[in-house]
Amino acid sequence: MTFKNYDASFSEAARALFDTLSPEQQERARRMGGMQAAYIGTKRDLELDREFDRVTENAAAALFGKSGKARALFVLGESGSGKTTSVEKHIAKRRQFLPRTTADGVSVRPLVPMLAPKPLTLKGLALAGLGALNYEVHNTRISGFDLFKEWKNQLREQQALFLAIDELQHVLRGDTVKELQTVADVLKDLLQIPGWPLHMFLSGVPALAGFLHQDGESERQLKERSHIIEFRRMSFPEDIPVTTKIVEKIIRVEACLEPRDVLHEEFVHRILHSSHFAFGSSIELTRIACDNAMRLEQDYVGPANFIAAYALKSGCRPSQNIFAVKEGWLDILPINSLQELLDSVRRPARSTKGR
Ligand SMILES: Nc1ncnc2c1ncn2[C@@H]1O[C@H](COP(=O)(O)OP(=O)(O)OP(=O)(O)O)[C@@H](O)[C@H]1O
Ligand SMILES: [Mg+2]
Repeated sequence: MTFKNYDASFSEAARALFDTLSPEQQERARRMGGMQAAYIGTKRDLELDREFDRVTENAAAALFGKSGKARALFVLGESGSGKTTSVEKHIAKRRQFLPRTTADGVSVRPLVPMLAPKPLTLKGLALAGLGALNYEVHNTRISGFDLFKEWKNQLREQQALFLAIDELQHVLRGDTVKELQTVADVLKDLLQIPGWPLHMFLSGVPALAGFLHQDGESERQLKERSHIIEFRRMSFPEDIPVTTKIVEKIIRVEACLEPRDVLHEEFVHRILHSSHFAFGSSIELTRIACDNAMRLEQDYVGPANFIAAYALKSGCRPSQNIFAVKEGWLDILPINSLQELLDSVRRPARSTKGR
């Protein structure tokens, strides 16, 4: 997870770069930065609000008795559905997660964000967890088990009440059931540190639901200790009205341009189809179309900007551009967008061989 507080040295390098840009480029950089950072709230934020509040209050509930057992919140959704953006937003807006200074003058972070390593092993996860706590491990020969023990110690020592792990799907690639069970057990173990009821925000693809629901003794199951929010795919025609509103907002409010011929049902359906019906991907595509319009110094965004945006985003040839073809666009699968390009690379290789 990146969170928007960049490294001081990055900001300095970016500032030096910015100073070399022409006034027009600087203006575009400013608009792009603002556009990318704008958050679009929807109904699903209400559910996230409730769950983030519940988890936060559950950590404080220990003071008055006991924290409830469900200490993990899983946010599941396909790639581009907006998991990382939403979780970052809901973390950033709560002051309870901000660093604070203890009575002894030490600065602590109540919430520690981290990415799941790839491949996800006990040792890799513990190393990533310690890394997120800025704890250096010099002896790499230490066993995964010992590193895990040190991770738990450090979570306590550094007073981390919450852990946010993104990209947890790395657990799913090619791993054996036994490894899945190990990682599930590790997460469950983190939720049961004696005297330290850690709470977790975990995100990944929907297939993680399988990982949550493993066979075994019920007390081994992580599911019992978790709440799950799913970011479902958008659908047609139900999500046309909300998508139309979002596209209009990005163009008018974020990019300060006029939408032209891009807000009618068929066009919005093309936006959804080209984005695998993923909420965030359709936002991203619309932003690229706006950026394209700005570069062409237009004061409006039209279909040609979406044609250019989709070509850039997908790498497709014109005949496979969902926004360029008149008919049959529903038969074009965005997942195959690079097919023609790949075929053209493969073909000459064969013909050269034959010569
Ligand atoms: N609520 C939102 N408001 C504004 N932009 C959003 C929102 N949700 C997602 N986006 C944009 O959509 C794009 C994809 O979102 P994000 O990276 O959060 O998806 P993801 O589900 O984490 O995908 P992956 O599984 O590939 O990591 C990003 O460019 C992000 O800026
Ligand atoms: Mg993500």
